[in-house]
Amino acid sequence: MRTITIARPDDWHLHLRDGEHLRAVLPDTARRFARAIVMPNLKPPVATTRLALEYRSRILAALPAGARFEPLMTLYLTDNTPPGEIAAARAGGMVHAVKYYPAGSTTHSDAGVTDIARCRGVLEAMEKHGMPLLVHGEVADPAVDPFDKERVFIETVLAPLVERHAGLKVVMEHITTREAAEFVKAAPPRVAATLTAHHLLLSRNALFAGGIRPHLYCLPVLKREIHRQALIQAAVSGNPKFFLGTDSAPHARHTKETDCGCAGIYTAHAGIELYAEAFAAAGALDRLEGFASRHGARFYGLPVNGETVTLEEAPWPVPAEIPFGADRLVPLRAGSTVAWKLR
Ligand code: NCD
Ligand code: ZN
Ligand code: ZN
Repeated sequence: MRTITIARPDDWHLHLRDGEHLRAVLPDTARRFARAIVMPNLKPPVATTRLALEYRSRILAALPAGARFEPLMTLYLTDNTPPGEIAAARAGGMVHAVKYYPAGSTTHSDAGVTDIARCRGVLEAMEKHGMPLLVHGEVADPAVDPFDKERVFIETVLAPLVERHAGLKVVMEHITTREAAEFVKAAPPRVAATLTAHHLLLSRNALFAGGIRPHLYCLPVLKREIHRQALIQAAVSGNPKFFLGTDSAPHARHTKETDCGCAGIYTAHAGIELYAEAFAAAGALDRLEGFASRHGARFYGLPVNGETVTLEEAPWPVPAEIPFGADRLVPLRAGSTVAWKLR
């Protein structure tokens, strides 16, 4: 049986939700990851330092006894975020990034940015304070083909933004295309990207295997196999610009199995194990530690975790459903198996 021991990993892109939903999903992440960058797309959004600190307290209060897990908070950027908020966020020491959702692009993004040109002052403050901008990299324009929204965003918004703000640290979140991987690779060292396990493991064929698969619908939507191959190449390349971000995004079963289903895939129950599968399939298990436990910490200026975790190649069954407060959710691989197991 193959095993691998790595420094304890971090999740650099995670949705924890709030209340009973937070309490339902947090143990899955806390068992695997030492830290996570927590997305601010609650309703209402986590748009101020005060709200971020309050949300952080609720996360800490929801941790199982004995858990060792640190939530790294983010601010939700709006058209009206005052530049002064960035100094306050930095001074508090708990906010590690600002999240840019183009308005209308994804789940709970309606309070997002309508035109990034309006945020010039905030972005300048972020450059000054070394505060990274995390980007949902898709245009919201309904006229643009959904499979092209990431590429068009890079061309029309992200490339000019990176050039205009020459000191801004940027993470392009959950990249899904060869074009995105190439853009990040060619950009200055202050530009990085997270990769989800589901985009490493699945192409869009899976969305339509035998019928429409609502639990595999996420944003950005799964792409062609050639893109998945490019993402695998980026993940296993050893390039420190690419690191782990699950984008685990829980939604109640009935909100996905409906006539207009929510976007988001739940993967926190196998948050590191699924990446081990992808890296093993690529013959690159020796690259997993850099990707999962080192590159992100380096980018965010944080220490690598002292503890280690061990994974073994031993299949285990994933339940058909997971309790989600008063609801249930359907995790990735529901009713099937994951090939690697956390010891
Ligand atoms: C995320 C969610 O549900 O909050 N959904 C998703 O499909 N990825 C939002 C996001 O990360 O874009
Ligand atoms: Zn997103
Ligand atoms: Zn997300």
